[in-house]
Amino acid sequence: MTTTDSHVGRTAVVTGAAGGFGTAIALELARRGADIIAVDINSADETAAAVRETGRRAIALQADISDPEQVADITPDMIGFTGRVDILINNAGAFPFIDIFDLDYAKWRQTFAINTDTQFLMATAVMRSMRENGWGRIVNLASNSLGLAVPQMVAYMSAKGAVVGFTRSLATDLAPYGITVNAVCPTASRTPGGHKFIGDEIIDSVAGMQAIKRAGVAEDIVGTVCFLSSDDSAFMTGQTVVCDGGLMRV
Ligand SMILES: NC(=O)c1ccc[n+]([C@@H]2O[C@H](COP(=O)([O-])OP(=O)(O)OC[C@H]3O[C@@H](n4cnc5c(N)ncnc54)[C@H](O)[C@@H]3O)[C@@H](O)[C@H]2O)c1
Repeated sequence: MTTTDSHVGRTAVVTGAAGGFGTAIALELARRGADIIAVDINSADETAAAVRETGRRAIALQADISDPEQVADITPDMIGFTGRVDILINNAGAFPFIDIFDLDYAKWRQTFAINTDTQFLMATAVMRSMRENGWGRIVNLASNSLGLAVPQMVAYMSAKGAVVGFTRSLATDLAPYGITVNAVCPTASRTPGGHKFIGDEIIDSVAGMQAIKRAGVAEDIVGTVCFLSSDDSAFMTGQTVVCDGGLMRV
């Protein structure tokens, strides 16, 4: 990955930072100059330590960010770390395959809580700090599965569809304050979540349908996320960017 100084002076919150895309994103933002607040339901201490090795400041905050009270608890720590939050990468998520006849209301709600509620709660927690500074970048992780006929993903695709609507609508409301909001759609990738929910065999077969015929890895997404969280994307908001090895060629 090319290192630039595109994020010097910025403070970035990365959710789901304990592993997968979140760790790769936090590290690359740090290499480009950002201080990092690594948030996860599990300990993100290792990610924070790796960020510090790049020379940037970092803290790890442990919370279930689908819970409004836990988000409220960590908000002073997020804002107080450097006195500002400039960038939010709404990456935490989970992508369970659920047979439609087993999809009860509890599973539906849980899938929305993890994939959609988390993004709403975190954006509303930090957007006032962005407004104060007249600059902000919010990047929401969606999924390329939205454009594909993936079976057993009614709850997940609905939740990520809501992320796209949330992205468009929030972009409208926050644009007057210099805050952009965009979504990124990765492909099936070799992350801990990809391994657990999708499995290596399916990830490989998805790779075979991509224009670029190799399985996605966490590092494949970081360039797009860094662009959307930098000054370079200042005139771009409300967009859903597909970064999936050319699976969805729309
Ligand atoms: N990996 C893929 O194949 C793939 C494909 C398309 C989209 N995505 C999306 O990318 C994002 C990251 O995926 P990944 O593969 O890195 O997943 P992952 O499971 O490897 O990592 C997700 C991280 O989020 C954390 N997390 C989950 N629920 C949380 C909660 N309630 N509060 C705080 N932290 C929580 C987990 O502990 C984990 O560290 C997700 O939004 C996912 O939907 C992934």
